[in-house]
Amino acid sequence: MIYFDHNATTPLDEAVFDAMLPFLKRFYGNPSSLYRLGRLSRTAIETAREQVAELVGVHSSQVVFTSGGTESNNLALAQLAPGHRCVASAIEHPSVLAVVPQNQPITTVPVNTQGQVLDAAIDDLGLEANDFISIMRANNETGVVQDIAPVFARLREQGIVCHTDAVQAAGKIALEFDALNAQLMSLSSHKLYGPKGCGALIAARDFTLKPLLRGGSQESGIRAGTENVAAIVGFGKACELARSELEPRWQLLLQLRLHLETELKKLPGCVIFSEKVDRLPNTVQFSIAGVDGEMLQMQLDQKNIAVSSASACSSGGGEPSAVLLAMGVDEQTAKGAIRVSFGKANTMQEIDTFIENLKNIIRT
Ligand SMILES: Cc1ncc(COP(=O)(O)O)c(C=O)c1O
Repeated sequence: MIYFDHNATTPLDEAVFDAMLPFLKRFYGNPSSLYRLGRLSRTAIETAREQVAELVGVHSSQVVFTSGGTESNNLALAQLAPGHRCVASAIEHPSVLAVVPQNQPITTVPVNTQGQVLDAAIDDLGLEANDFISIMRANNETGVVQDIAPVFARLREQGIVCHTDAVQAAGKIALEFDALNAQLMSLSSHKLYGPKGCGALIAARDFTLKPLLRGGSQESGIRAGTENVAAIVGFGKACELARSELEPRWQLLLQLRLHLETELKKLPGCVIFSEKVDRLPNTVQFSIAGVDGEMLQMQLDQKNIAVSSASACSSGGGEPSAVLLAMGVDEQTAKGAIRVSFGKANTMQEIDTFIENLKNIIRT
C-alpha cells in the first residue's frame, strides 16, 4: 500500500512502540502511587515531558499532557477571560472553530487567496488586553505555514493572549516556542509517529493555566485524570526522534514534494493550492479541472493508494473544504481537492506509481 495521508495520522515508529511496550505490560503502576511501581510510571512521564519540552525549546514545567490536539486546543480556548473576545483565523481546525468559549461565537479573521492570514484584518478588529487569538502555525490541508511571530509580538504587547495550533508543524519544521511569541501552543502525538490519543499544551512560563477537566491533581491540577502513561512515553520518544531527525526528514519530504509538484504541473487543468507561499515540506493540495476529489480518492483507494479528499475529520460529508472556500476557491474546484501528505518512509518511486495511476484514472 502507498500511504500518502500523514497529515491525517502517521504510523507508529518502531522505536516508539518499543518504548511504550513495557508500560502496557509490566509497568502498569498508577503514576500517583507512591510505591516503586507507581514511581516508575511517574519517572517515565517526567522523562517524556522533558523530551517534548526539548522539541519545542521550553522547560519541562511548561508542558501539560492532554488527550491530543483537540483537547489541547479546547484547553487553550478555555483560557479566554470572561467578558473578552475570542478571535481565530478562518482556516483553523474544527477543534478551535467549533469551540464556543464563554458562550460567545468566535470572530474569524480572513485569509488571502494563498491561505495566509491577513494581519491588517486583525488590526481592524480593535482587539483589547485579555482578548484571545488563535492562529495555527501550519494548515492541515494546504500546509501553509503562517508567519505568526511578528503579529503575535505586536498583539502580546497589547496584552492579547496568543495561541497557536502547531499540531501539523511539529516534527516537520523547526518549532521554537519562544521564537513564535505565542503564550500557548498545541501539539499532537499521532502526527509525528507517536500514538493516538495523546498531546500537549505548551504554556509560557508566566501563564497561569485554568483547568478544563477537573478532579484529581494530575498535571499540577490543570488536567485531571490518570495519565495515559504508555502513550505519554511514546509521545516523548516520538518527539526525541523528531528532534534528532528533523533535518533529514525535512530534506526528504521536500524532495518528494517538489517531485510530485513537477509531475502534477504536467497534467492539464491541475491547480496546486497555495503554491507560491511557504508550506510544510510534506503537503500538496491540488485539484484537477472536471475531476471530483472524493471519486478520485476512492479510485486511488482501489489501487491501494491512500490520500485525502478533504481534511480527515470532515471527509465523508461531501462538503467542499472550508479552508479552500475561505481562500476564495470556487465550490467546484474545492470539491476536486486532493491532499497528499508524505511521511518519512515514502519514496520517489511511490510518487511515480501515484502519478501513473492518477493519469490512468483521469484519462478514463
Ligand atoms: C491542525 C490540527 N489541529 C488539531 C487537530 C486535532 O488533533 P487530534 O487528532 O490529536 O485531536 C488536527 C488533526 O487532524 C489538526 O490537523
